[in-house]
Amino acid sequence: MAMAIKIKRSREMQGDALQSVTILEKTMAEKILDIKNLDITFKTTAGVVHAIRGINIDLEKGETVAVVGESGSGKSVTMKAAMGILASNAVVNSGTIEFTYHHDDGTPTTVDILQKDKKWIRRHINGKRISMVFQDPMTSLDPTMNIGKQIMEGMIWHYNTPKAEAYEKALGLLREVGIEDAEKRMKNYPHQLSGGMRQRVVIAIALACDPDLLICDEPTTALDVTIQAKILELIKRIQKERGISVIYITHDLGVVAKVADYVNVMYAGKIVETGLINEIYYDPKHPYTWGLLSAMPDLDTDDDRLYTIPGSPPNLLHEVPGDAFAPRNQFALEIDDKADPPMFQVSKTHFAATWLLDERAPKVEMPEELRHRIARMKKEAERMEHGNG
Ligand SMILES: Nc1ncnc2c1ncn2[C@@H]1O[C@H](COP(=O)(O)OP(=O)(O)OP(=O)(O)O)[C@@H](O)[C@H]1O
Ligand SMILES: [Mg+2]
Repeated sequence: MAMAIKIKRSREMQGDALQSVTILEKTMAEKILDIKNLDITFKTTAGVVHAIRGINIDLEKGETVAVVGESGSGKSVTMKAAMGILASNAVVNSGTIEFTYHHDDGTPTTVDILQKDKKWIRRHINGKRISMVFQDPMTSLDPTMNIGKQIMEGMIWHYNTPKAEAYEKALGLLREVGIEDAEKRMKNYPHQLSGGMRQRVVIAIALACDPDLLICDEPTTALDVTIQAKILELIKRIQKERGISVIYITHDLGVVAKVADYVNVMYAGKIVETGLINEIYYDPKHPYTWGLLSAMPDLDTDDDRLYTIPGSPPNLLHEVPGDAFAPRNQFALEIDDKADPPMFQVSKTHFAATWLLDERAPKVEMPEELRHRIARMKKEAERMEHGNG
Protein backbone atom coordinates (compact mmCIF):
# COMPACT_ATOMS: atom_id res chain seq x y z
CA MET A 1 0.00 0.00 0.00
CA ALA A 2 1.25 3.47 -0.87
CA MET A 3 2.24 5.73 2.01
CA ALA A 4 1.03 9.31 2.15
CA ILE A 5 3.45 12.20 1.86
CA LYS A 6 3.04 15.80 0.80
CA ILE A 7 5.85 17.61 -0.93
CA LYS A 8 6.00 21.30 -1.62
CA ARG A 9 7.28 22.74 -4.85
CA SER A 10 10.08 24.58 -3.05
CA ARG A 11 11.77 21.30 -2.23
CA GLU A 12 11.88 20.38 -5.86
CA MET A 13 13.57 23.67 -6.65
CA GLN A 14 16.12 22.95 -3.99
CA GLY A 15 16.95 19.61 -5.61
CA ASP A 16 17.65 21.37 -8.90
CA ALA A 17 19.72 24.04 -7.22
CA LEU A 18 21.83 21.41 -5.47
CA GLN A 19 22.47 19.76 -8.76
CA SER A 20 23.76 22.93 -10.35
CA VAL A 21 26.20 23.35 -7.46
CA THR A 22 27.80 20.04 -8.36
CA ILE A 23 27.88 20.96 -12.02
CA LEU A 24 29.84 24.08 -11.02
CA GLU A 25 32.26 22.10 -8.89
CA LYS A 26 32.96 19.68 -11.67
CA THR A 27 33.86 22.36 -14.22
CA MET A 28 37.24 22.66 -12.50
CA ALA A 29 38.52 19.50 -14.21
CA GLU A 30 38.83 19.23 -17.97
CA LYS A 31 35.47 18.30 -19.35
CA ILE A 32 35.26 16.37 -22.59
CA LEU A 33 31.53 15.69 -22.93
CA ASP A 34 28.70 17.56 -21.31
CA ILE A 35 25.14 16.47 -22.03
CA LYS A 36 22.60 18.87 -20.57
CA ASN A 37 18.85 18.65 -20.32
CA LEU A 38 18.54 16.34 -23.34
CA ASP A 39 14.98 15.61 -24.44
CA ILE A 40 14.24 13.48 -27.50
CA THR A 41 11.04 12.13 -29.03
CA PHE A 42 10.47 9.84 -31.99
CA LYS A 43 7.65 10.22 -34.47
CA THR A 44 6.08 6.85 -35.19
CA THR A 45 2.88 5.68 -36.88
CA ALA A 46 1.55 4.80 -33.42
CA GLY A 47 2.27 8.27 -32.04
CA VAL A 48 5.08 10.15 -30.35
CA VAL A 49 7.56 8.12 -28.28
CA HIS A 50 9.16 10.20 -25.53
CA ALA A 51 12.42 8.26 -25.34
CA ILE A 52 14.74 10.72 -23.57
CA ARG A 53 13.19 12.88 -20.86
CA GLY A 54 15.78 15.35 -19.63
CA ILE A 55 19.21 13.78 -19.29
CA ASN A 56 22.40 15.23 -17.81
CA ILE A 57 25.70 13.38 -18.13
CA ASP A 58 29.16 14.81 -17.99
CA LEU A 59 32.49 13.23 -18.48
CA GLU A 60 36.00 14.41 -17.76
CA LYS A 61 39.17 13.61 -19.61
CA GLY A 62 40.43 10.12 -18.79
CA GLU A 63 37.29 9.18 -16.88
CA THR A 64 35.17 6.07 -17.43
CA VAL A 65 31.46 6.49 -16.94
CA ALA A 66 28.94 3.67 -17.10
CA VAL A 67 25.33 4.05 -18.18
CA VAL A 68 23.22 1.20 -16.82
CA GLY A 69 19.56 0.40 -17.39
CA GLU A 70 17.09 -2.11 -18.73
CA SER A 71 16.31 -2.54 -22.40
CA GLY A 72 14.54 0.51 -23.83
CA SER A 73 15.69 2.93 -21.12
CA GLY A 74 17.35 5.16 -23.73
CA LYS A 75 21.04 4.29 -23.43
CA SER A 76 21.72 3.87 -27.14
CA VAL A 77 19.58 6.82 -28.21
CA THR A 78 21.54 9.09 -25.87
CA MET A 79 24.86 7.91 -27.28
CA LYS A 80 23.65 8.12 -30.86
CA ALA A 81 22.68 11.72 -30.18
CA ALA A 82 26.22 12.35 -28.95
CA MET A 83 27.57 10.94 -32.20
CA GLY A 84 25.10 12.80 -34.39
CA ILE A 85 23.67 9.57 -35.75
CA LEU A 86 20.06 9.75 -34.52
CA ALA A 87 17.41 8.08 -36.67
CA SER A 88 15.62 10.43 -39.08
CA ASN A 89 12.33 10.28 -37.13
CA ALA A 90 14.03 11.65 -34.00
CA VAL A 91 13.15 15.13 -32.76
CA VAL A 92 15.46 16.85 -30.29
CA ASN A 93 13.14 18.99 -28.17
CA SER A 94 15.78 20.50 -25.94
CA GLY A 95 19.31 20.13 -24.67
CA THR A 96 22.94 20.57 -25.57
CA ILE A 97 25.72 18.05 -26.10
CA GLU A 98 28.99 19.88 -25.73
CA PHE A 99 32.09 18.09 -26.89
CA THR A 100 35.54 19.56 -26.30
CA TYR A 101 38.50 18.60 -28.47
CA HIS A 102 41.96 19.99 -29.13
CA HIS A 103 43.55 21.15 -32.35
CA ASP A 104 47.08 20.10 -33.27
CA ASP A 105 48.50 23.23 -31.62
CA GLY A 106 46.68 22.37 -28.38
CA THR A 107 43.94 24.99 -28.50
CA PRO A 108 40.63 23.62 -27.27
CA THR A 109 37.34 23.96 -29.13
CA THR A 110 33.92 23.17 -27.69
CA VAL A 111 31.07 22.38 -30.07
CA ASP A 112 27.43 21.54 -29.51
CA ILE A 113 27.02 18.32 -31.48
CA LEU A 114 23.27 18.98 -31.77
CA GLN A 115 23.97 22.20 -33.70
CA LYS A 116 26.25 20.54 -36.27
CA ASP A 117 25.13 18.87 -39.48
CA LYS A 118 25.74 15.19 -40.16
CA LYS A 119 28.40 15.86 -42.78
CA TRP A 120 30.49 17.99 -40.43
CA ILE A 121 30.18 15.41 -37.66
CA ARG A 122 31.30 12.63 -40.01
CA ARG A 123 34.28 14.67 -41.12
CA HIS A 124 35.45 15.95 -37.73
CA ILE A 125 34.03 13.78 -34.98
CA ASN A 126 32.88 10.26 -35.79
CA GLY A 127 35.58 7.64 -35.86
CA LYS A 128 38.13 10.41 -35.37
CA ARG A 129 37.54 12.04 -31.99
CA ILE A 130 34.62 9.92 -30.77
CA SER A 131 34.48 6.24 -31.67
CA MET A 132 31.76 3.78 -30.91
CA VAL A 133 32.00 0.04 -30.31
CA PHE A 134 28.56 -1.37 -31.07
CA GLN A 135 26.47 -4.03 -29.40
CA ASP A 136 26.95 -6.57 -32.17
CA PRO A 137 30.35 -6.66 -33.85
CA MET A 138 28.87 -8.30 -36.95
CA THR A 139 26.79 -5.21 -37.76
CA SER A 140 29.77 -2.87 -37.58
CA LEU A 141 32.10 -5.03 -39.65
CA ASP A 142 31.86 -5.20 -43.42
CA PRO A 143 31.64 -8.91 -44.40
CA THR A 144 33.08 -8.20 -47.87
CA MET A 145 36.25 -6.42 -46.78
CA ASN A 146 39.30 -7.90 -45.10
CA ILE A 147 40.18 -6.90 -41.55
CA GLY A 148 43.29 -4.97 -42.51
CA LYS A 149 41.45 -2.72 -44.96
CA GLN A 150 38.71 -2.04 -42.41
CA ILE A 151 41.22 -0.86 -39.83
CA MET A 152 43.14 1.26 -42.35
CA GLU A 153 40.05 2.88 -43.89
CA GLY A 154 39.46 5.52 -41.20
CA MET A 155 43.12 6.60 -41.02
CA ILE A 156 43.24 7.09 -44.78
CA TRP A 157 39.91 8.95 -44.89
CA HIS A 158 40.44 11.21 -41.88
CA TYR A 159 44.20 11.81 -42.05
CA ASN A 160 45.31 10.85 -45.58
CA THR A 161 47.73 8.44 -43.94
CA PRO A 162 49.95 6.81 -46.61
CA LYS A 163 48.97 3.18 -47.19
CA ALA A 164 52.21 1.63 -45.95
CA GLU A 165 52.06 3.65 -42.77
CA ALA A 166 48.38 2.79 -42.23
CA TYR A 167 49.25 -0.87 -42.72
CA GLU A 168 51.94 -0.75 -40.05
CA LYS A 169 49.63 1.08 -37.69
CA ALA A 170 46.85 -1.45 -38.27
CA LEU A 171 49.26 -4.28 -37.46
CA GLY A 172 50.21 -2.52 -34.24
CA LEU A 173 46.57 -2.04 -33.32
CA LEU A 174 45.77 -5.72 -33.85
CA ARG A 175 48.64 -6.58 -31.51
CA GLU A 176 47.49 -3.96 -29.02
CA VAL A 177 44.04 -5.56 -28.82
CA GLY A 178 45.62 -8.96 -28.26
CA ILE A 179 45.26 -10.63 -31.64
CA GLU A 180 47.97 -13.16 -32.41
CA ASP A 181 49.32 -13.70 -35.89
CA ALA A 182 48.38 -10.14 -36.73
CA GLU A 183 49.86 -10.26 -40.22
CA LYS A 184 47.81 -13.28 -41.18
CA ARG A 185 44.67 -11.82 -39.57
CA MET A 186 44.98 -8.64 -41.64
CA LYS A 187 43.99 -10.70 -44.70
CA ASN A 188 41.09 -12.48 -42.95
CA TYR A 189 37.42 -11.65 -43.42
CA PRO A 190 35.08 -11.20 -40.41
CA HIS A 191 33.45 -14.64 -40.79
CA GLN A 192 36.85 -16.26 -40.34
CA LEU A 193 37.16 -14.90 -36.81
CA SER A 194 35.57 -15.97 -33.52
CA GLY A 195 33.12 -13.65 -31.75
CA GLY A 196 35.71 -12.53 -29.23
CA MET A 197 38.24 -11.78 -31.97
CA ARG A 198 35.68 -9.81 -33.97
CA GLN A 199 35.00 -7.69 -30.93
CA ARG A 200 38.73 -7.04 -30.63
CA VAL A 201 38.89 -6.04 -34.29
CA VAL A 202 36.00 -3.61 -33.77
CA ILE A 203 37.94 -2.09 -30.89
CA ALA A 204 41.05 -1.83 -33.08
CA ILE A 205 39.01 -0.01 -35.74
CA ALA A 206 37.59 2.32 -33.09
CA LEU A 207 41.11 3.19 -31.90
CA ALA A 208 42.60 3.66 -35.37
CA CYS A 209 42.36 7.47 -35.38
CA ASP A 210 43.36 7.96 -31.73
CA PRO A 211 39.96 9.13 -30.47
CA ASP A 212 39.57 11.11 -27.23
CA LEU A 213 36.34 9.33 -26.36
CA LEU A 214 35.35 5.70 -26.81
CA ILE A 215 31.68 4.77 -26.44
CA CYS A 216 31.17 1.06 -25.84
CA ASP A 217 27.56 -0.01 -26.27
CA GLU A 218 27.26 -3.35 -24.47
CA PRO A 219 30.29 -4.74 -26.25
CA THR A 220 30.18 -8.11 -24.57
CA THR A 221 26.59 -9.44 -24.51
CA ALA A 222 27.04 -11.90 -27.35
CA LEU A 223 30.15 -13.40 -25.79
CA ASP A 224 30.64 -16.06 -23.15
CA VAL A 225 31.60 -14.99 -19.66
CA THR A 226 35.35 -15.60 -19.79
CA ILE A 227 35.73 -13.81 -23.12
CA GLN A 228 33.53 -10.99 -21.80
CA ALA A 229 35.90 -10.55 -18.87
CA LYS A 230 38.89 -10.41 -21.22
CA ILE A 231 37.26 -7.75 -23.42
CA LEU A 232 36.49 -5.70 -20.31
CA GLU A 233 40.11 -5.98 -19.18
CA LEU A 234 41.22 -4.96 -22.65
CA ILE A 235 39.04 -1.85 -22.66
CA LYS A 236 40.27 -0.93 -19.21
CA ARG A 237 43.92 -1.37 -20.17
CA ILE A 238 43.48 0.70 -23.34
CA GLN A 239 41.70 3.40 -21.36
CA LYS A 240 44.60 3.61 -18.90
CA GLU A 241 47.41 3.42 -21.44
CA ARG A 242 45.92 5.95 -23.81
CA GLY A 243 44.33 8.17 -21.16
CA ILE A 244 41.10 8.35 -23.15
CA SER A 245 37.59 8.78 -21.78
CA VAL A 246 35.18 5.88 -22.00
CA ILE A 247 31.41 5.65 -21.79
CA TYR A 248 30.36 2.12 -21.09
CA ILE A 249 26.74 1.14 -21.74
CA THR A 250 25.31 -2.02 -20.22
CA HIS A 251 22.31 -3.81 -18.68
CA ASP A 252 24.49 -5.39 -16.10
CA LEU A 253 25.60 -3.62 -12.95
CA GLY A 254 27.92 -6.55 -12.31
CA VAL A 255 30.04 -5.54 -15.28
CA VAL A 256 30.27 -1.91 -14.27
CA ALA A 257 32.48 -2.28 -11.18
CA LYS A 258 35.20 -3.76 -13.37
CA VAL A 259 35.49 -0.75 -15.65
CA ALA A 260 33.90 2.48 -14.44
CA ASP A 261 34.64 5.37 -12.07
CA TYR A 262 31.10 6.73 -12.19
CA VAL A 263 27.72 5.12 -12.76
CA ASN A 264 24.55 6.63 -14.22
CA VAL A 265 21.48 4.49 -13.69
CA MET A 266 18.85 5.12 -16.36
CA TYR A 267 15.16 4.39 -16.26
CA ALA A 268 12.54 5.26 -18.89
CA GLY A 269 14.59 8.02 -20.49
CA LYS A 270 15.94 9.57 -17.29
CA ILE A 271 18.95 9.26 -15.04
CA VAL A 272 17.51 8.15 -11.70
CA GLU A 273 20.74 7.71 -9.75
CA THR A 274 24.31 8.81 -10.32
CA GLY A 275 27.41 8.39 -8.23
CA LEU A 276 30.88 6.95 -7.81
CA ILE A 277 31.13 3.18 -8.12
CA ASN A 278 31.33 2.65 -4.36
CA GLU A 279 28.36 4.93 -3.72
CA ILE A 280 26.19 3.00 -6.15
CA TYR A 281 27.35 -0.43 -4.97
CA TYR A 282 27.55 0.09 -1.25
CA ASP A 283 25.08 2.87 -0.60
CA PRO A 284 22.42 2.77 -3.33
CA LYS A 285 19.42 4.99 -2.67
CA HIS A 286 16.99 4.43 -5.53
CA PRO A 287 14.67 1.40 -5.36
CA TYR A 288 15.40 0.78 -9.04
CA THR A 289 19.13 0.55 -8.29
CA TRP A 290 18.25 -1.80 -5.41
CA GLY A 291 16.44 -3.94 -7.97
CA LEU A 292 19.35 -3.91 -10.43
CA LEU A 293 21.81 -4.86 -7.68
CA SER A 294 19.53 -7.63 -6.46
CA ALA A 295 19.26 -8.92 -10.02
CA MET A 296 23.01 -9.47 -10.37
CA PRO A 297 23.95 -13.15 -10.29
CA ASP A 298 25.33 -13.91 -6.84
CA LEU A 299 28.38 -16.12 -7.03
CA ASP A 300 28.90 -16.19 -3.27
CA THR A 301 25.83 -18.16 -2.32
CA ASP A 302 24.40 -21.48 -3.42
CA ASP A 303 21.17 -19.68 -4.09
CA ASP A 304 20.88 -19.64 -7.86
CA ARG A 305 17.42 -18.12 -8.09
CA LEU A 306 17.79 -14.94 -10.10
CA TYR A 307 15.87 -11.95 -8.82
CA THR A 308 14.08 -9.93 -11.50
CA ILE A 309 12.47 -6.55 -10.99
CA PRO A 310 8.68 -7.16 -11.22
CA GLY A 311 6.69 -5.63 -14.05
CA SER A 312 8.07 -3.88 -17.11
CA PRO A 313 9.11 -0.34 -18.08
CA PRO A 314 6.35 2.11 -19.09
CA ASN A 315 5.23 2.53 -22.65
CA LEU A 316 6.81 5.82 -23.66
CA LEU A 317 4.06 6.45 -26.21
CA HIS A 318 2.07 7.82 -23.28
CA GLU A 319 3.33 10.57 -21.01
CA VAL A 320 4.18 9.17 -17.60
CA PRO A 321 2.55 11.00 -14.68
CA GLY A 322 4.76 11.22 -11.60
CA ASP A 323 7.65 8.82 -11.08
CA ALA A 324 7.88 6.40 -14.02
CA PHE A 325 9.19 3.65 -11.74
CA ALA A 326 6.31 3.89 -9.24
CA PRO A 327 4.15 1.06 -10.65
CA ARG A 328 7.03 -1.39 -10.17
CA ASN A 329 8.24 0.03 -6.90
CA GLN A 330 7.17 -1.77 -3.72
CA PHE A 331 8.34 1.28 -1.77
CA ALA A 332 6.35 3.82 -3.80
CA LEU A 333 4.80 6.75 -1.94
CA GLU A 334 1.55 8.46 -2.81
CA ILE A 335 3.42 11.46 -4.18
CA ASP A 336 5.08 9.20 -6.78
CA ASP A 337 1.85 8.99 -8.76
CA LYS A 338 1.61 12.76 -8.96
CA ALA A 339 5.05 14.32 -9.17
CA ASP A 340 8.31 13.25 -10.68
CA PRO A 341 10.99 13.36 -7.97
CA PRO A 342 13.88 15.81 -8.39
CA MET A 343 17.49 14.74 -7.94
CA PHE A 344 18.19 14.67 -4.22
CA GLN A 345 21.78 15.07 -3.17
CA VAL A 346 23.33 12.29 -1.10
CA SER A 347 26.99 13.35 -1.29
CA LYS A 348 29.08 15.70 -3.38
CA THR A 349 29.10 13.09 -6.14
CA HIS A 350 25.97 11.06 -5.41
CA PHE A 351 22.39 11.97 -6.43
CA ALA A 352 19.17 10.01 -6.68
CA ALA A 353 15.71 10.87 -7.97
CA THR A 354 13.45 9.22 -5.42
CA TRP A 355 10.96 10.79 -3.03
CA LEU A 356 12.28 8.40 -0.38
CA LEU A 357 15.14 10.88 0.10
CA ASP A 358 12.81 13.73 0.94
CA GLU A 359 13.14 14.66 4.58
CA ARG A 360 9.41 14.17 5.10
CA ALA A 361 9.37 10.66 3.62
CA PRO A 362 8.99 7.72 5.97
CA LYS A 363 12.26 5.98 6.71
CA VAL A 364 12.61 3.10 4.26
CA GLU A 365 15.61 0.79 4.18
CA MET A 366 16.75 -1.31 1.27
CA PRO A 367 15.55 -4.95 1.33
CA GLU A 368 17.37 -6.98 3.95
CA GLU A 369 18.60 -9.56 1.48
CA LEU A 370 20.32 -6.82 -0.51
CA ARG A 371 21.81 -5.32 2.64
CA HIS A 372 23.42 -8.68 3.48
CA ARG A 373 24.63 -9.00 -0.03
CA ILE A 374 26.26 -5.59 0.00
CA ALA A 375 27.95 -6.45 3.28
CA ARG A 376 29.35 -9.57 1.60
CA MET A 377 30.50 -7.55 -1.43
CA LYS A 378 32.27 -5.08 0.83
CA LYS A 379 34.01 -7.83 2.77
CA GLU A 380 35.12 -9.49 -0.43
CA ALA A 381 36.47 -6.18 -1.78
CA GLU A 382 38.41 -5.61 1.45
CA ARG A 383 39.79 -9.12 1.31
CA MET A 384 40.97 -8.58 -2.28
CA GLU A 385 42.57 -5.30 -1.31
CA HIS A 386 44.49 -6.87 1.57
CA GLY A 387 45.44 -9.76 -0.68
CA ASN A 388 46.96 -7.36 -3.18
CA GLY A 389 48.60 -5.12 -0.58
N1 LIG B 1 13.97 5.26 -34.52
C1 LIG B 1 13.15 5.06 -33.49
N2 LIG B 1 11.82 5.23 -33.63
C2 LIG B 1 10.97 5.06 -32.59
N3 LIG B 1 11.34 4.71 -31.36
C3 LIG B 1 12.65 4.53 -31.15
C4 LIG B 1 13.63 4.68 -32.20
N4 LIG B 1 14.86 4.43 -31.69
C5 LIG B 1 14.66 4.13 -30.38
N5 LIG B 1 13.36 4.18 -30.06
C6 LIG B 1 12.75 3.95 -28.73
O1 LIG B 1 13.47 4.71 -27.78
C7 LIG B 1 13.55 4.01 -26.53
C8 LIG B 1 14.99 3.90 -26.10
O2 LIG B 1 15.69 3.04 -26.99
P1 LIG B 1 17.24 2.67 -26.82
O3 LIG B 1 17.64 1.93 -28.05
O4 LIG B 1 18.02 3.89 -26.48
O5 LIG B 1 17.21 1.70 -25.57
P2 LIG B 1 18.46 1.01 -24.85
O6 LIG B 1 18.47 1.49 -23.46
O7 LIG B 1 19.68 1.20 -25.66
O8 LIG B 1 17.98 -0.50 -24.86
P3 LIG B 1 18.85 -1.85 -25.12
O9 LIG B 1 19.46 -2.15 -23.79
O10 LIG B 1 17.82 -2.84 -25.51
O11 LIG B 1 19.86 -1.58 -26.19
C9 LIG B 1 12.87 2.67 -26.76
O12 LIG B 1 11.55 2.77 -26.30
C10 LIG B 1 12.90 2.51 -28.26
O13 LIG B 1 11.83 1.74 -28.71
MG1 LIG C 1 20.92 -0.09 -26.74
